[in-house]
Amino acid sequence: MRNKFLVKVTRLIPEEGIIMLKEKGCEVEISPFDRVLTKAELKSFVVGADAILSLLTDKIDGEVLDAAGPQLKIVANYAVGFDNIDLAAAKTRKIFVTNVAAPEVSEAVAEHTFGLMLDIARRISEGDRFLRAGKYLGWEPMLLLGDGLDGKTLGIVGLGRIGTSVARRATRGFRMKVLYNDVKQNPDFEAEFGGRFVAKLDDLLPQCDVITLHVPLLPSTFHLIDSKKLSLMKRTAILINTSRGPVVDEKALVEILKKRKIAGAGLDVYEAEPALSPGLLELENIVITPHTASATMGARQAMSRAAAENIIAVVEGAEPGNVVR
Ligand code: GLV
Repeated sequence: MRNKFLVKVTRLIPEEGIIMLKEKGCEVEISPFDRVLTKAELKSFVVGADAILSLLTDKIDGEVLDAAGPQLKIVANYAVGFDNIDLAAAKTRKIFVTNVAAPEVSEAVAEHTFGLMLDIARRISEGDRFLRAGKYLGWEPMLLLGDGLDGKTLGIVGLGRIGTSVARRATRGFRMKVLYNDVKQNPDFEAEFGGRFVAKLDDLLPQCDVITLHVPLLPSTFHLIDSKKLSLMKRTAILINTSRGPVVDEKALVEILKKRKIAGAGLDVYEAEPALSPGLLELENIVITPHTASATMGARQAMSRAAAENIIAVVEGAEPGNVVR
């Protein structure tokens, strides 16, 4: 009879959290496939787990939770987002669901957000493509003119940890003015960064040179940015999405970009990853990355440790720190 706390990890992750779990006396089983598991594979892999350490690419629903068995106590998601997990199904089964709230991750995502912003504002990838295509014939006064970020107005939609890290870079590094939209006003943030709360997204969008999205994907944020909202943005504005793809109506975004009704977009996430909407790749006024905003070794090790800490809390009979409800 097994008496060790069994943790099933659905794909190989950086080792620090795995080491912590083993040091705590847990038995750790890592999926032998270094790829996303099919539903059937996932259901058979999780059987007998006390904890599932899942990835954002795993759809954890009631069927998967039941397949694990009644001893399952926690699903620790190796991600900030948790839209891949059926929270209601976990709640009825009294299973904790946790995400990751490590500062290293917020900083990495904020950095990447700025990378996308700078790239599209200063046409860096476009210039790279231009050069590689052999089109550069010498310096020109009007070649690839962009619009800088210095002193511009940034609209942050969703002022959580990542939104706040973005605001720090914007105000301290780029002298940007920050407006933010969130479910609630944050006076401490305003005192620290001079940001201004705009209660209605419709009022925020027309005022900003750059809009950056940092909301979780929830039923209320699905297609939060649709064609109507996109049409409220300035023609010169840039949209950045490092949150979740379905927060933006991607087809509508492609249309708006094609017609140059906004200046450009920087995207790290897509509506039906890894598929991209038709026409997206043909656009010059976008910069796209493959969901790598948190992809620094430091951030990914921090995610590994944070997921392990959440599981260890349960091993010790406590409530984990990052329960999502
Ligand atoms: C990445 O998208 C994450 O949610 O951690």
